[in-house]
Amino acid sequence: MPTYVVTGANRGLGLEFVRQISQSTDNTLLACVRSSNSDLDDLEKAASNNEKNTHILTCDTGHLDSIKNFVSQAKESLGGKKIDFLLNNAGINSVPHQNSLSIGPEDLDEQIRVNVLGPAKTTEFLLAASLLDAKARIINMTSGLGSMTQSLTITPRKCATYSISKGAVNSLTVQQSGDVREKLGKECVVICMDPGWVKTRMGGEGAVLEPEESIAGMLKCIHGLKEDDNGKFFTYTGKEVPCQSFDGQG
Ligand SMILES: NC(=O)c1ccc[n+]([C@@H]2O[C@H](COP(=O)([O-])OP(=O)(O)OC[C@H]3O[C@@H](n4cnc5c(N)ncnc54)[C@H](OP(=O)(O)O)[C@@H]3O)[C@@H](O)[C@H]2O)c1
Repeated sequence: MPTYVVTGANRGLGLEFVRQISQSTDNTLLACVRSSNSDLDDLEKAASNNEKNTHILTCDTGHLDSIKNFVSQAKESLGGKKIDFLLNNAGINSVPHQNSLSIGPEDLDEQIRVNVLGPAKTTEFLLAASLLDAKARIINMTSGLGSMTQSLTITPRKCATYSISKGAVNSLTVQQSGDVREKLGKECVVICMDPGWVKTRMGGEGAVLEPEESIAGMLKCIHGLKEDDNGKFFTYTGKEVPCQSFDGQG
C-alpha cells in the first residue's frame, strides 16, 4: 500500500501521474497544487477512482512558507504513514526565448527558486518531519535540456534560463543522493528523470509524446529502482543519461 506525493498535480504531467497512480485504490496519494484557487476539476476527476485515499493539498514550491505548511498538512493527512515515492514534478519554463546572452536576473532567480529550491526544500522539510520512508524513492523532474551532453547537440541552443535551472536540478540530485542517505540509510534512492518531450502546456507545439506514455514509462522505471541507481539520471524509458560522472560512492 504505497504512498505517493506529486507536486504540480493539477495539470500536465502531474495530472497524468495522479490519473495513473489513482488506478489502484491501494495507493495513498498527496496531490499538491500551487493554489487552492486553481481550477481543480481535472484533478478531482483524475483522482475520482481513489477519492478516499487521495488528499489534495496546497504546496507552492516557490515559497518556503507554503512548503512548510504543506508538510504540516501532509503529516495530518498521512496519519502515521510514511511516503514511499516523492515526485518533485512542479516546474516552470517561463522565459523560453532567453539565451545565455539575454538572461534576466529576476527570471533566473525565479527558475532556480521553483525548479531547484522547490524540490530541495520539499525533500528537506519532509525528511525533517520524519515523513519519508527508509526505502523512499525521490524523483526530481529534470529535462534533456538539463543535460550538458544533450544541450551541446542542439543548435541554436534552447531555453537557456530553464536549461541552467535543470542542470542545477541534476546537481541537486547528486548532492541529495549522498545527504538523504546519511539521514535515512542506504536503502533510499534519489534520482532525476527526463519525461521526454511531452504534449503539455510546457511541452507546447511540436511535442511528440502523449502524457500517458511518458508517465507509464516513468512509473515503470521508478518502481524498478535499485539501491545502485542512487544519484543517477534516467529518461522516461528507463535508459540512463550519461551526463554525470558517477563513481558509486553514493
Ligand atoms: N512537457 C515536457 O515536454 C517536459 C520536458 C522536460 C521536462 N519537463 C518537466 O516536467 C515537469 C512537469 O512539466 P509539465 O509539462 O507538466 O508542465 P506544465 O504543463 O506547465 O505544468 C506545470 C505544473 O507545475 C505547477 N507549478 C508551476 N509552478 C509551481 C509552483 N511554484 N508551485 C507549485 N506548482 C507549480 C503548475 O501549476 P499551476 O497550474 O498552478 O501553474 C502545473 O501543475 C516540470 O518540472 C518540467 O520542467 C517537462
